[in-house]
Parts: sequence; structure tokens; C-alpha cells
Amino acid sequence: ILTNLQKNCATPLPVLHHVADAMAADMRAGLAVDGGSNLKMILSFVNSLPTGNEKGLFYALDLGGTNFRVLRVQLGGKDKRVIDTEFEQVSIPPELMFGTSDELFDFIASGLARFVQKESGKFCLPPGMKREVGFTFSFPVKQTSIDSGILIKWTKGFAVSGTAGKNVVACLNEAMGRQGLDMRVSALVNDTVGTLAGARYWDDDAMVAVILGTGTNACYVEQMDAIPKLRGENSASRRMIINTEWGAFSNGLPLTEFDKDMDAASINPGEQIFEKTISGMYLGEIVRRVLLKMAEAGALFGESVPEKLSAPFVLRTPDLCAMQQDTSDNLEAVGSILCDVVGVNSNLTARKVVLQVCDTIVKRGGRLAGAGIVGILQKMEQESKGLIFGRRTVVAMDGGLYEHYPQYRRYLQDAVTELLGFEISKNVIIEHSKDGSGIGAALLAAANSKYAHEF
Ligand code: BG6
Ligand code: GLC
Repeated sequence: ILTNLQKNCATPLPVLHHVADAMAADMRAGLAVDGGSNLKMILSFVNSLPTGNEKGLFYALDLGGTNFRVLRVQLGGKDKRVIDTEFEQVSIPPELMFGTSDELFDFIASGLARFVQKESGKFCLPPGMKREVGFTFSFPVKQTSIDSGILIKWTKGFAVSGTAGKNVVACLNEAMGRQGLDMRVSALVNDTVGTLAGARYWDDDAMVAVILGTGTNACYVEQMDAIPKLRGENSASRRMIINTEWGAFSNGLPLTEFDKDMDAASINPGEQIFEKTISGMYLGEIVRRVLLKMAEAGALFGESVPEKLSAPFVLRTPDLCAMQQDTSDNLEAVGSILCDVVGVNSNLTARKVVLQVCDTIVKRGGRLAGAGIVGILQKMEQESKGLIFGRRTVVAMDGGLYEHYPQYRRYLQDAVTELLGFEISKNVIIEHSKDGSGIGAALLAAANSKYAHEF
């Protein structure tokens, strides 16, 4: 079973090249016409990135994969830059993922209301001015403008009823009304777009942002004339950030029976295949399915099959990560995690096999993510006629998987270096931009402020 798994998950250079080329081709097809490929290539209506001149008091709401965050940012303009920032973070209660739209948006708005109440008059705005918010909403939204957009569908296991097809800013405004909050959403952004804006504030070379967390996605700066589906709209600007929604990519991926079974059992079968192969929500579950088969067909843990191993999603990606950090001779930590999480007593041979399974799935995920990044860079290089690979280009990364899984990060970087070659890859800086999306959303709220002239 292990040998087959390793063979089917292998990502040698030709496979990576194929994935990178297919990513670039799908991007092109998605830019040509809506529905042109699996990649939605969503227009963000963000035509300019932060300059550092942004000024004033702004808020951000960040609904990610695992956490919900509220931030307040005071921007001081060119010299002062960020004067002050404060945030609060809570995990998204699991029951809200399956509740109603009103319940979810009430949770968001009440978090914001509590945050603002705690200020107790410390931050006053001139009379007649409303507090402005940048809303980072990490799901596929068809943007209709910088401050409105319709939820296409939920991803990452969310199944909230009544939001798909609705303008999520209107949903938030209604919930803020129910909380008695009089604030204005001036920018609606995907988490990738927020991350790129946050990274660009500090580094002019930031051109791409990638989230590798519960889910995965990427955005980048595109030339207007390379977006045929725009048909002349927004032609005053030269560039626009495109949210690829690359989680839906599926072309030429090395998939196994375990991936296919997991997909078939998911709440969105046939969708988000790249996301299901490389992101944090799914890596643990793929490994669990492999181990279950090994226990049933190969007596990995002895004669009986541990009951807990049959529970979907019982093994989580942070468990794989913790096991892979175990360098002890007896693999004590691996043993105790298997005992705690799966309820099994394992010998050293079984622990070594478990580690090899983890490594196989994590290696495939990290390398495919790297190939996806190279696909985007290739597309940008073609469009800009050589202006990407010949100069410093920063890819801003965020998300729990990238932040906390060193092996995954290493596999990703290795794949990028293999694909681009050592010389070019020296110009491509892949770096963590921690929680940049919150500040990024506040910066975009500032850039789109109704009161910009009044500061
Ligand atoms: C956070 C960003 O750091 O990472 C969010 O601020 C983003 O905008 C999130 O959605 C993704 O990571 P995870 O691990 O929570 O899915
Ligand atoms: C999912 C969402 C996408 C988001 C990504 C990372 O793929 O569809 O919008 O950016 O997760 O959070």
C-alpha cells in the first residue's frame, strides 16, 4: 500500500511542469470569459495597491478558514505609517458553519460591536463621518464593485444556508443594523487580496499572494489588457488584482483512490480538487484514509482495526505536523499522538510507516503548491514580457499550514527552485506575511474611503 501510494503521489519535475503550465493555461481561459475554465479568475476591482500615504482610522473584519478577527488600524500617512493597531481574534464556532446566514453575520457584527464598545469614546471621528471597514471574506465572491459582491458558493466545509447568491456586504450591513452599529463597508476583499495589499504596504515588489491554511487560494497583479472578459470596463487603470480561486484547479494532478474517496464523501464532490489535495483541512484526512486501509488490509496496528480511525477528520493536519517533528529514536511523540488521537498502541515499525505516509502526502501537497506559484509567475512573465523573472518579485504567503508546517514549506520552496532553476529562483522571494490580510483590508478601506479628502 505504501509503495503504491508513493508511486501515485510522486511529483517528479515533468509532473510539476505540467501542473505549472496547466495552471497558466487555465488562468488565461478564465480571464477570457466567465466560466472559461475551472479557475474563476475573479475581478477584485482593486486597481491600485497601498502606497504608504493612507491616513485615518479604519477597521477590518477578517473571516478566514478557522478564525474571525476584528482590527482597528490608525494610519499616519507617509511618515507615520501605522501609528497603532489592535485586534481581537476568536475561533469560528463550528455550529455556525452549518447554521443560517443571519446567525453567521450576527456573530461577525456582534464581534465588531463589542470591539467598538470597548473603545469607550477613545477614537472620535468628526461629526457626520461613519467608521469605515474593510471586510476580508475568504470565500469565492463574484465582486460587483470594490464594496459589493455575491457569494458564489461556500468552500472549506462551510454549509451556511441562505448566503449563496446574496451580496455579502448587504448581509453584513443588515447584521450591523441589528446590532445598532452605524458603520460603512468601504472594501470587500478576499483574504489573498488583503494579504497582497498588506504585503505591498511594506514591500513594493509584492506581486502575488498565496493562502495555504484551511483552504488555499492565490491572487496576483494582472495587466488590464490581458483580461478580455472586462470588455473595456475600468479601462482608466492599467492593472487589477485577480483572485484566481485556484482551489478549484484540477488539471493533471497526481490523485489516488484515497483522494477520490474523500472527494466523493465531501459536501462538495467534484469541486475544489486542488484545495483538497494541498490544503490544511484535508491533508490529515487523506492520511487517515490511507492508515485505515493499512490497518484493515495490512494489519498495520495488529489484528484489530482501531475504531477511532474510521471517524472522518479525526486526524488533523497539525497532528501530522507534530508527528513529523519527532526525531527521537523510538518516535515517542508519534506513538503518543497515535494513542491520543486514534486510540492505538503502535510499535516502532508502525510509527515509521505512519511517518512515511505523512511525508508522502505533505510532500505532494507542498510541491504542487510550489508548481501552482510557478504557473502564476509564468503567466505574469509572459504578460509583462520579461519583467517578472529578471527582477526581485515577492510572493506573500499566509495561512496556518504555511506558517506552522516546516516540511511543507521546504517542499514548496524546493519545487519552485527546481522548476525555475537556481538563478531565476533567487529573484523570487517567497515569504510569510503574517496576518497581513487584516491590515491589507484596512488599507484598501482607506484607499476607497468616502471621506479621503477630509483627512
Ligand atoms: C490569516 C489571514 O492569517 O490566515 C486570513 O489573516 C486568512 O485572512 C487565514 O483567511 C487563512 O489561514 P487559516 O489557517 O485560518 O485557514
Ligand atoms: C477557499 C476560498 C477562497 C479563500 C481560500 C483561502 O479556497 O474559496 O476564497 O481565499 O479558501 O482561505
